[in-house]
Amino acid sequence: MTRTYTRSQLALRNGQDREEIWVAYQGKIYDVTRSRMWKNGKHYEHWAGQDLTSELDTDAPHNANVFDKFEVVGQLV
Ligand code: HEM
Repeated sequence: MTRTYTRSQLALRNGQDREEIWVAYQGKIYDVTRSRMWKNGKHYEHWAGQDLTSELDTDAPHNANVFDKFEVVGQLV
């Protein structure tokens, strides 16, 4: 069963308030805690704990394949 999380639950996983660092993209929430590139929840000028779908599509020099090696922890509702 897929777990669901609200925006405020996701916001707690911003790398500041809790151990976990989560990022949402196209409705899926990825756990990027083990990434060295998301330390403390920050990745270039972007913060975890949010839906970064439009930021990836407009700002990132890479595509969504960067999420392939990370686990989906739930669905953003
Ligand atoms: C200014 C915008 C951004 C820059 C300059 C940037 C740059 C990079 C670079 C250089 C890498 C590693 C090389 C690669 O895999 O291509 C990377 C990985 C990654 N990026 Fe971004 N990125 C940006 C925005 C974003 C956004 C908005 C997201 C989320 C939606 C994102 C998610 C990721 C993830 C999950 C990885 C993989 C991290 C890992 O493997 O440890 N990036 N990014």
